[in-house]
Amino acid sequence: MATKLLLTLAICRLIVTVGFTFNPNDLLRLGLDGKLSAAPADLQSASVDFGGVYRAEPMAVLHPATSEDVARLVKAAYDSARGFTVSARGHGHSINGQAMTRNGVVVQMSGGLKNKMLTVSEKFMYADVWGGELWIDVLTSTLEYGLAPKSWTDYLYLTVGGTLSNAGISGQAFNHGPQISNVHELDVVTGKGELLTCSEKENSELFQAVLGGLGQFGIITRARIALEQAPQRVRWIRVLYSNFSTFTHDQEYLISLHGKPSSQKFDYVEGFVIVDEGLINNWRSSIFSPSNPVKVSSLKAEGGVLYCLEITKNYHLTNADTIDQEIEILLKKLNYIPASEFTTDLPYVDFLDRVHKAELKLRSKGLWEVPHPWLNLFVPKSRIAEFDKGVFKGILGNKTSGPILIYPMNKNKWDDRSSVVTPEEDVFYLVAFLRSALESGDETQTLDYLSNQNNEILKFCEDESINVKQYLPHYDNQREWRDHFGEKYWTRFQQRKLEFDPRHILATGQRIFMPSFNPNIANW
Ligand SMILES: Cc1cc2nc3c(=O)[nH]c(=O)nc-3n(C[C@H](O)[C@H](O)[C@H](O)COP(=O)(O)OP(=O)(O)OC[C@H]3O[C@@H](n4cnc5c(N)ncnc54)[C@H](O)[C@@H]3O)c2cc1C
Ligand SMILES: *[C@@H]1O[C@H](CO)[C@@H](O)[C@H](O)[C@H]1NC(C)=O
Ligand SMILES: *[C@@H]1O[C@H](CO)[C@@H](O)[C@H](O)[C@H]1NC(C)=O
Repeated sequence: MATKLLLTLAICRLIVTVGFTFNPNDLLRLGLDGKLSAAPADLQSASVDFGGVYRAEPMAVLHPATSEDVARLVKAAYDSARGFTVSARGHGHSINGQAMTRNGVVVQMSGGLKNKMLTVSEKFMYADVWGGELWIDVLTSTLEYGLAPKSWTDYLYLTVGGTLSNAGISGQAFNHGPQISNVHELDVVTGKGELLTCSEKENSELFQAVLGGLGQFGIITRARIALEQAPQRVRWIRVLYSNFSTFTHDQEYLISLHGKPSSQKFDYVEGFVIVDEGLINNWRSSIFSPSNPVKVSSLKAEGGVLYCLEITKNYHLTNADTIDQEIEILLKKLNYIPASEFTTDLPYVDFLDRVHKAELKLRSKGLWEVPHPWLNLFVPKSRIAEFDKGVFKGILGNKTSGPILIYPMNKNKWDDRSSVVTPEEDVFYLVAFLRSALESGDETQTLDYLSNQNNEILKFCEDESINVKQYLPHYDNQREWRDHFGEKYWTRFQQRKLEFDPRHILATGQRIFMPSFNPNIANW
């Protein structure tokens, strides 16, 4: 009863704020199976994200029970005389408020529906999953059939709809492409409130638009994900380099093997930059196991930077006897510092879920829920050496406040028809600055310092005409978005918006399109 009153009050506020003529009881009368809530706890959790920098409170939060709930809500927004905004929220792991909507309705996709919708086809090797499902739950369920998705993110407490709205990348992307290249079919609620099934064959423009579409064209309620036989174990290898060109040469060689039989390539290729011995203290430090310490300082040339190549090979216990030899042949082709090799062997699930362990450690120290001024860039291969000089060996100094990932990918594994933009080269690198800001401690760890450093990095690329593209992009105005896409892709993106969300109802937290009914920036 109290909740209902709160909700009615909230909706009245919605009407006053947005000024649309919509009967407050209409939302309650939508006949939703799920729960529409204005409880303070719901509003609070929908107002924040992992970035911890932005804050915007919605008027109400919908916990949908079905795709139809989502469709009814969006249809109500679309049909109402003045409209209101609707944003899907996955697990809220965005950095810059992308899943928020001030004074609109947040559809909380994760939680609630757990596994109810998950079905696996062993015959056709796919899983049908709810858009708000966490990848960890997809993994657990498919493993019951001895199957698993092919392409991953480093961290699994992210939702299917959330990563598919960006791309979903990790060390498998060189081989399988990003997660958006491993989806057969989607159910999507468009900005007009229509629930449509789409694929390469059916409603294909919507399908391509939504993949990497930053939530602009529809809310993904179901995804059909490609599966493979799940490996049982993983050999996880790390080696160090002091010479950047040797490091990138080896990484590029390894990803060039993508077309080879699986016995002749690694399954995962990533890497990271070590500018700071403090790395040992951060959330990926578990890779340098204390029982097998790598003395970074003893390897590091004065004032230099080290690069760590991280590779894995998956296997089944039935072919465990050939794995050592396959790895040896591959490692022989590489030119790392011989003494730096570090190998571990673990169950496949433990490898995929590795970052969660680090999360639990950081949480126990109160270091997880801090601001995260992250910057993710796709850097064209031809300019990566200049990037190293200017940024890793320049702008960063010797403190980074978090891991810096670097690994190359093959552009031919990305579908140009999707909405993501990547550099115009056959190979491009992901460079991810995954920092955590602290208010105590020295000046170089504060949010201001790190945010300024991000801007400096972007400015350096602009000044040097290094044509980087942001991944998980964030811009404040449409001119910058237009530059991000480039004229050709911007035109396509706009056309898709006009077709699938003409009133600009969806995912306004991305700050790409202002709601047509509310040209007040503060209310995005
Ligand atoms: C610790 C950590 C590790 C990460 N590691 C990786 C990584 O290895 N690789 C990688 O690619 N990314 C990684 N990410 C980034 C991650 O992909 C993004 O945060 C992404 O947004 C998914 O998070 P989410 O599911 O919480 O979505 P949210 O942040 O809640 O939403 C992201 C955007 O998608 C929209 N959206 C959410 N759900 C849907 C839906 N069902 N349909 C349509 N639109 C929707 C939202 O409106 C919003 O605009 C990482 C993030 C964190 C915090
Ligand atoms: C790194 O290796 C390249 C290629 O072998 C070589 O040309 C270059 O001089 C090396 N750089 C340093 C700093 O040793
Ligand atoms: C790190 O940089 C600071 C400031 O530039 C300098 O004073 C310090 O000596 C450096 N530390 C190391 C270990 O290089």
